[in-house]
Amino acid sequence: MGCCIVGCGKGLPALDVTNDELATLVDTSDEWISTRTGIRSRRISIEESSLDLAETAARQALGWEGALPGFEQQSAFAPEDIDLVLFATLTPDALLPSSAALLRRRLGLVNAVSFDLNAACSGFVYSLTVAEALMAASQAHVAGASGRNHYHRALVVGAERLSRITNWQDRNTCVLFGDGAGAVVVEWRDDAPGIISSYIKNDDDTTNSLVCPASFDSSFVFDQNGVNEIAIQDPAALLADASLDRIDEELGVIEGVAAGEPRQSIRMDGQKVFKFAGNALTNAVLEVLNRAELTLDDIALIVPHQANERIIKYAAKKLGLSLDRFQISIEHRGNSSAACVPMTLSDAYDSGKISPGDKVIMVAFGAGLTSGAVLYEA
Ligand code: COA
Repeated sequence: MGCCIVGCGKGLPALDVTNDELATLVDTSDEWISTRTGIRSRRISIEESSLDLAETAARQALGWEGALPGFEQQSAFAPEDIDLVLFATLTPDALLPSSAALLRRRLGLVNAVSFDLNAACSGFVYSLTVAEALMAASQAHVAGASGRNHYHRALVVGAERLSRITNWQDRNTCVLFGDGAGAVVVEWRDDAPGIISSYIKNDDDTTNSLVCPASFDSSFVFDQNGVNEIAIQDPAALLADASLDRIDEELGVIEGVAAGEPRQSIRMDGQKVFKFAGNALTNAVLEVLNRAELTLDDIALIVPHQANERIIKYAAKKLGLSLDRFQISIEHRGNSSAACVPMTLSDAYDSGKISPGDKVIMVAFGAGLTSGAVLYEA
């Protein structure tokens, strides 16, 4: 028995932006980007919100539009069948309500408990782990389950518009990111193992290697003495929010912000993140194998986070695997954070690479620092 993947889908924005186009924005080239990262183009949302992309992915995962190979036999789920929505994102369209609540409303998932989860690029793997844990803890055979909500089917989504928090003047980061969404439906089944093992882990980002401060635009009218009369009379004399200076200092971005960098944009020490990522990916794969008492020979496919093709090559070498054991989708998408793993999984189903009974590992890493993996039987 276990939490089984019974639907999968993805949603992509229409606009495709090539490396050559980025070379008109910053000092870079198609040659540099493609050889250093494996990326040739990425999708950028113009009119599509994160929610729009998530809706497209969810409709496919639910079997409402164009079920993927492997899931066509499955009849489409009714909206009331879904009792949990987990939405992994670091770029929600709104702070309130949550993206999960908005998706629930759009899709009419009237019975679903819905909330967002931010674990950066590991967000989908974290969300799937949480969904599985909630489902397992609510099954009838578990002591105390009757005192909890019952979860039988969950929609788990990763959706991002990283283009909104990318500094398009910074060649160290802007060439890497893209937008998109992916989703799975998971169902508790008594006759299949589904998710066999999972692993999630945090390390401190002691050197601020991957950060993005928030941005708050609303008028702030207080100082240490209470309401500031001048700020009330004259909105132009808006007070600085001292707490933001403190967080900018803590995140190591105060000088850049003072120099005019867009405050709410991703800043990254590429080499530090690269080092962390290669080891985190390898370690997470070995951890889920160990927990499942399986070996790499048992695994049909690894579906990794798509941050840089060289990170995947590094992990493949460390694990002693050929690259064709990994599903790679970075070439025309780049890194779309929490959306990468479910979109790449959907590619694998679409191209018939996952058959019933196959064991698959999804693995991710990201800011936080976060990392994790889920091993399941298809
Ligand atoms: N175009 C052209 N040149 C660029 C460039 C670009 N877009 N970005 C950086 N460079 C330059 C650098 O300025 C540097 O020049 P210098 O040697 O004159 O100083 C040179 O290329 C090499 O830079 P370096 O940072 O050593 O490149 P790299 O091989 O480490 O590749 C990344 C940079 C960002 C692609 C790579 O470090 C990476 O992928 N890191 C991990 C990122 C990641 O995974 N982020 C998300 C995690 S979820």
